[in-house]
Amino acid sequence: MWNFKYKYHHLPQPFKCTIYHSHSRYIHTYTLLLMAVIFSKIGILGGGISGLAAAKQLAEYNPVVLEATGSIGGVWKHCSFRTTKLQTPRCDYEFSDYPWPLRDNSSFPSYTEILEYLNSYATHFDLFKFIKFNSRVIEIKLAKSSSNLLSQKPFWEVAVQTIDASIQWYSFEFIVVCMGKYGDIPIIPKFGKKKGPEVFKGKMMHSQEYSKLNSEESCQLLKGKKVVVVGYKKSAIDLAVECAQANQGEEGKPCTMVVRTSHWIVPHYSIWGLPFYLFYSTRFSQFLHQRPNQGALRTMLCSLLSPARKATSKMIESYLLWKLPLVKYGLKPDHPFEEDYASCQMAILPESFFPEADKGRINFKRASSWWFWEDGVAFDDGTKIEADLVILATGFDGKKKLRAVLPQPFSAFLEFPSGIMPLYRGTINPYIPNMAFMGYVESVSNLHTSEIRCKWLARLIGGKFKLPSMEKMVEQIKTEAEIMKKTTRFYKRTCISTFSINHSDEICEEMGWTSWRKKTWLAEAFSPYNSQDYQQQDDDDDDETN
Ligand SMILES: Cc1cc2nc3c(=O)[nH]c(=O)nc-3n(C[C@H](O)[C@H](O)[C@H](O)COP(=O)(O)OP(=O)(O)OC[C@H]3O[C@@H](n4cnc5c(N)ncnc54)[C@H](O)[C@@H]3O)c2cc1C
Ligand SMILES: NC(=O)c1ccc[n+]([C@@H]2O[C@H](COP(=O)([O-])OP(=O)(O)OC[C@H]3O[C@@H](n4cnc5c(N)ncnc54)[C@H](OP(=O)(O)O)[C@@H]3O)[C@@H](O)[C@H]2O)c1
Repeated sequence: MWNFKYKYHHLPQPFKCTIYHSHSRYIHTYTLLLMAVIFSKIGILGGGISGLAAAKQLAEYNPVVLEATGSIGGVWKHCSFRTTKLQTPRCDYEFSDYPWPLRDNSSFPSYTEILEYLNSYATHFDLFKFIKFNSRVIEIKLAKSSSNLLSQKPFWEVAVQTIDASIQWYSFEFIVVCMGKYGDIPIIPKFGKKKGPEVFKGKMMHSQEYSKLNSEESCQLLKGKKVVVVGYKKSAIDLAVECAQANQGEEGKPCTMVVRTSHWIVPHYSIWGLPFYLFYSTRFSQFLHQRPNQGALRTMLCSLLSPARKATSKMIESYLLWKLPLVKYGLKPDHPFEEDYASCQMAILPESFFPEADKGRINFKRASSWWFWEDGVAFDDGTKIEADLVILATGFDGKKKLRAVLPQPFSAFLEFPSGIMPLYRGTINPYIPNMAFMGYVESVSNLHTSEIRCKWLARLIGGKFKLPSMEKMVEQIKTEAEIMKKTTRFYKRTCISTFSINHSDEICEEMGWTSWRKKTWLAEAFSPYNSQDYQQQDDDDDDETN
């Protein structure tokens, strides 16, 4: 007869099991490869900005934060180049209860400063104790059904690969997925037969791989090489500048950007001398824009006000065309500025970008289609250029990251046929129970967008309000998707920047907070909303002390 005695060494170590055999008196102690399942009410997947905000807001539940890598910070740690900086003003990209040390400094912090800020936030609020580093989620399984959001029953089982490649299982009642929209899974274009990188004698890499290089390695890689950068968004623009910087002097070679779609790029947050926030980030400016759940009267008013919206967009375009040599380089976009803004695609330009183009160190090639030949890249207009190195700054596939871990049928519910991710309040997928998603809806500052939703989620889990029916959530999501579709052809990026204040109003109302949060009517109408406006509300503090 076998008799088992379990002796737990500190979890999540493999557990030791002493086995006695009653007849032979053999005693063996085995370290079982199988690990004990670790239970917790809340699991947070990812330790980037969204994961940290979730851990802070849900701290009372002692959540387990599973982070695939050895550090916090997400894209700021793993997806940044030598020159990467925040492109949002720092007072907009801060936690509501943890201001930047020099918050009124108008310079944009470098990625290392952002990492310092995040480390300091996590230390201040004692968040590191929740984080399990080097814990990559590889599978999520539905364990048991539960009618109650936070009943005692385990709901999701999560398989985590640890640094020694062993598998640890966790069991959570509720999961907050914060695995990031960008980073990790690069988008690699597909090519026809004999048109892919296999025919190219040079080197091809994605910006993701490039971001792993340190300053010296990246300079060495680019120096003296004919580089092609595919893309014309923020990663591509920054890369082209780094390429130009590494190719100063006589032996330097120019870098060519392959531009499929030209987008509006902005040199700074001031347009014709006016602060940029006046155009889209105040209650008054967002009043001109369509928003979900507006009545017939407002819809009519919005139609009447559409010339004012177009005029705002035109005014910004005229400034950018005056300030930047977009026409000279054939880079004038074919769509209005508003469409880029409404899809969170506005890139802030490094100062030296066009000066380097003027010196011939950055060239542009407009092409709707391209492929490899043995010595470089060929285009649909019949032209070819030579290259030693092709860097794909072609973006990331955040949904693929989710599909890889979510079980069927839930992974099939990650997007509507329109391509938009169905998320109520940018957080809850009505088709997936006991799970929230953070960091998948974007706005001007993604930190603020995630943090306010984490506050909302904490109150939802705390039972301060209930979710509406599934039908109502789906209806709300569809209404928002319709607004995005009407505003921009790039609606698939799931961005709420033209109705962000309205979105926050609805979140506040659901949490029982006042939605108009400024001290005066003038400030309410004409000053921008940022995370400081959504600090803990007094009634909430009262609740907590009671
Ligand atoms: C280079 C760059 C610069 C940006 N600049 C700005 C900016 O200036 N302003 C702005 O508003 N937004 C910016 N963004 C958008 C940015 O994505 C958000 O601001 C924000 O940092 C996203 O945080 P996140 O936590 O949602 O995701 P991420 O930062 O991507 O974090 C996700 C975390 O999940 C972890 N993870 C992934 N898969 C797993 C898994 N299977 N198991 C466990 N852990 C996992 C990752 O390791 C990572 O730590 C930028 C994005 C990039 C790529
Ligand atoms: N703060 C910072 O300094 C900073 C730095 C880097 C990135 N970011 C952020 O990180 C996120 C990702 O940015 P990203 O620039 O890496 O990716 P991205 O915004 O998705 O841009 C991808 C680019 O690649 C192009 N592209 C994709 N496939 C292509 C193909 N087959 N042929 C030609 N061109 C192709 C796209 O063109 P189309 O437009 O035609 O699709 C686009 O120009 C964004 O939110 C960005 O703001 C911020």
